Amino acid sequence: MSAENAVFNMQPLFTDADAEAVAHQVRIGFVGPGPKTKAFGEALAAFAGRSYGELTVSGTMALTVAAVAIGLKRGDEILVPAYGVVSTINGFGSYEFSPRLVDIDPQRAVITVEELERRVTPATRAVCYVNFSGATGQDLVDIEAFCKERNLLLIEDAACAVGQSFEGRRAGSFGDVSCYSFSVPKVLTTGQGGAVLTNDAEVRDNVIRFTDHGDTEWRKTNLNHGIGNNLRCNDILAALGMAQLDTLEDRLSRRRASYAVLTEELPDHIYRIPGNEAPLHNIVLADNPAALVAALGEKGIRAVQQYRTVSEHPPYQHLADVAFPNADLWSRHAVYLPFGTGLTEEQAMRVARAVKESGQVLKPFRSNRA
Ligand SMILES: Cc1ncc(COP(=O)(O)O)c(C=O)c1O
Repeated sequence: MSAENAVFNMQPLFTDADAEAVAHQVRIGFVGPGPKTKAFGEALAAFAGRSYGELTVSGTMALTVAAVAIGLKRGDEILVPAYGVVSTINGFGSYEFSPRLVDIDPQRAVITVEELERRVTPATRAVCYVNFSGATGQDLVDIEAFCKERNLLLIEDAACAVGQSFEGRRAGSFGDVSCYSFSVPKVLTTGQGGAVLTNDAEVRDNVIRFTDHGDTEWRKTNLNHGIGNNLRCNDILAALGMAQLDTLEDRLSRRRASYAVLTEELPDHIYRIPGNEAPLHNIVLADNPAALVAALGEKGIRAVQQYRTVSEHPPYQHLADVAFPNADLWSRHAVYLPFGTGLTEEQAMRVARAVKESGQVLKPFRSNRA
């Protein structure tokens, strides 16, 4: 299998227009946090239907900043999904919040009101809903209502969901505060980067304080009323992001086209999200995931087994106070097939055929709940 025929697990897409946007920024010499950074934050907010959007260095940091900005303090209890990328819990664990795990729905891979009901305690202050692989639907609407009713703060981790929407509301517009990530696997990628979106001016100011030396006005007053860090984005990355936001519909269409091949070929076995939308990833649950990854690897197709039940990571083992059977199911069986905005329909067809030819048994996906 020659290298050029290999289908890598992650296939980003950068266009000449993206490259030109970056080159332009370099030519005009605005490379630090400047007008483009501000404009990209505002454009993201307008896109999501939020009042304010501020950029930071990563999606993980966006979660930390978001939690602090809505008033959570070290030690405060935040409910997070028991399965998924470690970034979500690290966004809270690295700042010494007190995360607690909630099992996911076995078909939809998101947390639900039913699972939250089981885990919420009088000490719970916040919930972090992860739009898993983009999933933005009724579960999130229900959780938003649940949090309002119980007086819980809601952080939407929409890292994987830029461009998704449900009943006219975009991912990034739910709860008290929402976060995006622009890391390489995402439909809109600046290599690294994240955003915090909110409708609350005080929350926005808190985000600025955390990410820019503790004061929203210090550059004008030469006086810093608080202590903050420097966690800002810059105009080069913002220019790259803005170019992709301007062409997001095209990027999403490409993603939908490759995903359509997989749903056609593996209709009962590919992970689906609400609204017949394309998830960020192409996921199957295999009885023997290692054998599937190996069989695909022999054909130059790089699939990966990834994400564990969060309490398997040593720093989070103390969170295994109950069993998380659905998280364990995903941890043991999920295979992430090649995905990405740059994945072509022809590559998707090769992947689907190789999955079928592997003869490996896949678990069915039944539910595609809105
Ligand atoms: C659900 C989720 N949350 C948070 C993050 C963190 O984003 P970043 O990698 O930009 O720190 C990611 C990125 O992989 C993610 O998928």
